[in-house]
Amino acid sequence: MPGLLDPGNPALALAGGPPGRRLVVVDARVHELHGDRLHHYLDARGVDHETLVLPVHAQVKTMDAVFQVADRMDSFGISRRGAPVLAVGGGVLAEVVGLACTLYRRSTPFVRIPTTLHGLLAHRPEVETLVDPAFLVTLGRRQVASGLAEVLKVALIADADLFGLLERRGRDLLDTRFQAAGVGTAVLARVVGTTAFDDGTSDGGHFGHILSPTLETRALPELLHGEAVCVEMALSTVVARRRGLVDAEQTERILRLMRRLELPVRHPLLESIALGEALADTVRRRDGGRWLPLPSGIGAGVLVDDLGGRELVGAAGWLRAWSAVTAAAPTLDG
Ligand SMILES: NC(=O)c1ccc[n+]([C@@H]2O[C@H](COP(=O)([O-])OP(=O)(O)OC[C@H]3O[C@@H](n4cnc5c(N)ncnc54)[C@H](O)[C@@H]3O)[C@@H](O)[C@H]2O)c1
Repeated sequence: MPGLLDPGNPALALAGGPPGRRLVVVDARVHELHGDRLHHYLDARGVDHETLVLPVHAQVKTMDAVFQVADRMDSFGISRRGAPVLAVGGGVLAEVVGLACTLYRRSTPFVRIPTTLHGLLAHRPEVETLVDPAFLVTLGRRQVASGLAEVLKVALIADADLFGLLERRGRDLLDTRFQAAGVGTAVLARVVGTTAFDDGTSDGGHFGHILSPTLETRALPELLHGEAVCVEMALSTVVARRRGLVDAEQTERILRLMRRLELPVRHPLLESIALGEALADTVRRRDGGRWLPLPSGIGAGVLVDDLGGRELVGAAGWLRAWSAVTAAAPTLDG
């Protein structure tokens, strides 16, 4: 929905409940960049509001931040079935506000206004999500690349055409921050809601998200969310290659596309002790099953449940060697 902060567009003022007072929680960086337009919009539409500006990002995803939101909801006098909280920011802000709303008076509705690519792609059980890709114009290039990892995830396990589109236009999307005419919104629409494998199992959504949480946490603040996801996707691709699920040419295309999108294909932590930890953590959370979603060709995926530790170590070694060779002999793909 373009023009969300255009006073001529009533969507934001009416989202999530009857017109009335609103508590607006805004990411500090977003407030710096878009706060004037946001307040101008709310004033112009006559929305009485209070603002809580929160400096949140992956390192400060804390309960303190959650309590700060809950305290403000309390002093603002929010009513359980009444006005929704507006959450304007990235994935972290949405998680913090979402948790505060879940806890406060059992459940307070909130409206998400995502301002990062991760945010635009994520699903949440809030009452409404208002999507405006124009927010991405101010997003850092590395943050856009990180979000593109989620697009690549869907392309790899569910959508071969999208993979082709990323090969042709992925760099444009990065360069223009999703403003490239016709492509940005088409890609967003294609990705949202696609998390199932072709066979109908919903585990495709976990592709790249099994080992990466341990990696992301251990590597903080070095790796962004999508970067950690991409490292796991690269590793999974090589595991798939060694099982004969993808061929040599497909493996090369996948890894090169990751490079073109300025995403890492490996990280030393996922070749060391952290790999064992990630696997153990996965097994703990998955009822003892050593399972991992893998690509099967390009645009399809399968779930394996017999993943071996040695298999992962072997794949990590292969990737290390591939990275060294391709970095030493750069091609047009970069
Ligand atoms: N559960 C899911 O479906 C899901 C999916 C993706 C991500 N996530 C979660 O979200 C987090 C990553 O999301 P994120 O990338 O949105 O992180 P984020 O919320 O930390 O935002 C990244 C950075 O960009 C800044 N920013 C936000 N919008 C901006 C804009 N328009 N212009 C300039 N700067 C802006 C923020 O201040 C922050 O410093 C991770 O913690 C991850 O767990 C969850």
